[in-house]
Amino acid sequence: MTDVTSCNDPAATSPGPPEEPSLRLLVSGGAGFIGAHLCDLLVRRGHQVLCVDNLFSSSARGVEHLLRHESFTLIDHDVSKPLAVEPTLNGVLHLATAADPQLFRTHPVEIARAAALGTAAMLDLAREHGCRFLLASSDAVYGDSLERPLAEHCQGAVDPVGPRSAYDEGKRFAESLTVAYQVQWGVDTVIARIFHTYGEGMPSDGRLVPTYIANALQGAPLIVRGTGQQTRAFCHISDLGEGILALFRSAHHGPVNLGDPREISVLALARMIIDLAKSTSRIQFGEPLEGDRRSRCPDITLATRLLGWRPRVALEDGLRKTIAWASAAAASAPGGMLPAERRP
Ligand SMILES: NC(=O)c1ccc[n+]([C@@H]2O[C@H](COP(=O)([O-])OP(=O)(O)OC[C@H]3O[C@@H](n4cnc5c(N)ncnc54)[C@H](O)[C@@H]3O)[C@@H](O)[C@H]2O)c1
Repeated sequence: MTDVTSCNDPAATSPGPPEEPSLRLLVSGGAGFIGAHLCDLLVRRGHQVLCVDNLFSSSARGVEHLLRHESFTLIDHDVSKPLAVEPTLNGVLHLATAADPQLFRTHPVEIARAAALGTAAMLDLAREHGCRFLLASSDAVYGDSLERPLAEHCQGAVDPVGPRSAYDEGKRFAESLTVAYQVQWGVDTVIARIFHTYGEGMPSDGRLVPTYIANALQGAPLIVRGTGQQTRAFCHISDLGEGILALFRSAHHGPVNLGDPREISVLALARMIIDLAKSTSRIQFGEPLEGDRRSRCPDITLATRLLGWRPRVALEDGLRKTIAWASAAAASAPGGMLPAERRP
């Protein structure tokens, strides 16, 4: 087997021994931030990976190191269109939806189509191959819920016509469709409700952590919207990857929260990044963002009980690694951290 060099920190993402049996898995959105990490982890554990991505919100750079590996294939394909795959798959992990909030506003049609038509096409594939299907859903299904922490039974408050609705409602519909395929046609499905994730390999898009890191590295102001007292909870990519794989391997069907429950205010996050980057940047307060959440914190009791999973990487340690990676990426690629090159 060809050697694989991970884009992520090998110390943070121990590949572990190869898993038996070796599975043939399709990862949609596999060139994106989480997808690339997952493909890397799967290949290093001895599985065959078919990465399906139209590079809408990513570039192939995240999986470049896997392209020479015999167990990895990249297919340039829009998941909202049907896809025929041979030979038989043992699993479909459906991650294809852009997660950059800037795109929710500028490309809501692509976002909603990927969530609705893309999920239908990937579920059809899992049904045809008689294999397990994992949906990468999101804490966005909870909307601006006042409950804290958020457990899987919370029903949320989502605006169906707001600036984020293509994504938020798209994820809600994708969950409904996933459950429908399981109930009516017996497809073996499971739903991962992913909360904010960050780490090495993250593109410099409109998401909070890469934006703050990019600004801190350039000495530019870090813009804190509103009072900055709104809270978030960030999970390191290495922890999330293990959580997704554990959930995929489980026999569970219902939604399961995957995230780090350790909360931090946006203002404290900005200060921490400035400190860790040893930056001269200042904090600047801006207008609150329309549709912004007041708090975001997962209740991971179910994931811990079912999977024995909980995040291990402390935010400060994960940020230190991410800053080091971003700084190296900025030095080697003009324009900074991995850019989303093929955005229309
Ligand atoms: N990163 C987070 O903090 C987070 C939080 C909650 C949920 N999620 C979910 O996890 C999944 C992956 O997130 P990410 O952070 O890697 O996002 P990302 O934007 O980095 O990656 C998404 C990938 O999907 C691809 N894609 C989008 N539309 C497509 C289409 N129509 N056909 C084929 N490929 C398409 C993109 O090109 C990209 O490679 C998404 O479903 C997202 O909603 C992520």
